[in-house]
Amino acid sequence: MSAGAGGERLAGGMANAGGVFRRGGVVDRPASRNAAGVHAYLAGLRERGFDGAPLGVALGGGREQLTYVEGDVALPPFPARVMTDGALRSVGRLLRRLHDAGADVPFDPGADWDRALADPAGGPLLCHNDVCPENVVFRGGHAVALIDFDLAAPGRPLWDVAMAARFWVPMLDPVSAAAQYPAGLDPLRRLRLLADAYGLTPDERADLPAVVEQTAAAGRCFVERRVADGDLAYAEAVARQGGWARWDRAQAWLVSRRNAYAAALRD
Ligand SMILES: Nc1ncnc2c1ncn2[C@@H]1O[C@H](COP(=O)(O)OP(=O)(O)O)[C@@H](O)[C@H]1O
Ligand SMILES: [Mg+2]
Repeated sequence: MSAGAGGERLAGGMANAGGVFRRGGVVDRPASRNAAGVHAYLAGLRERGFDGAPLGVALGGGREQLTYVEGDVALPPFPARVMTDGALRSVGRLLRRLHDAGADVPFDPGADWDRALADPAGGPLLCHNDVCPENVVFRGGHAVALIDFDLAAPGRPLWDVAMAARFWVPMLDPVSAAAQYPAGLDPLRRLRLLADAYGLTPDERADLPAVVEQTAAAGRCFVERRVADGDLAYAEAVARQGGWARWDRAQAWLVSRRNAYAAALRD
């Protein structure tokens, strides 16, 4: 973090890198296209007792203000303290609480949600869609809040679980995983831990490996579009990670491990 005219600049993130500031208890950042819908959703979550997300404070001039959530947000390479079994379980429980509260929050499915990472099947609630470590606040070794709801859009809860699994297990080929994650994580055991902590049903467990593959494809499309639109932060990240071969490798890995993941979830 560094001091700036707009407050303390907050490090982390890609889409709004350099544009997120903290002033006391408030975060000031570029507004997403349906920030009004997101603020209403965040208020609805809070009314239903969910405290694991910021609240909208104000909106205008292309920017939004949200409450600052006290804690730590990990940046890559991710430290071991956010990749413990306990940390992973806490992510699963937090996501479950988000979905349980969100199931009762009304929203307009036809609103102008940013669907760049949305579930192609659509669904009954607003998914977060970007449950990566950079968007989860930790306190005392446990996930306490999700932030950055810019890509929230209608979807199935399973879509969010798949997103979380890809980033938090991680479900990633060993070469790519070694660049960003601590050594020694057992993906099969951790996938099961996350599914159990969330409380996936048997049917959801059966569907999860294929949905993870879909989220990886969606993630690649998202990055391809950003690069095609001239977004330098994304272009540099792709180059730094060895180009599109990294995405090919990740996708091939998911296919090759499909049966092993399925067995770990089932047995
Ligand atoms: N409401 C918040 N409370 C605490 N920290 C926040 C909040 N919003 C953003 N941050 C911090 O700022 C960083 C970047 O913000 P984020 O909104 O995720 O940007 P981006 O859209 O680029 O991903 C986050 O990784 C986190 O450290
Ligand atoms: Mg973010």
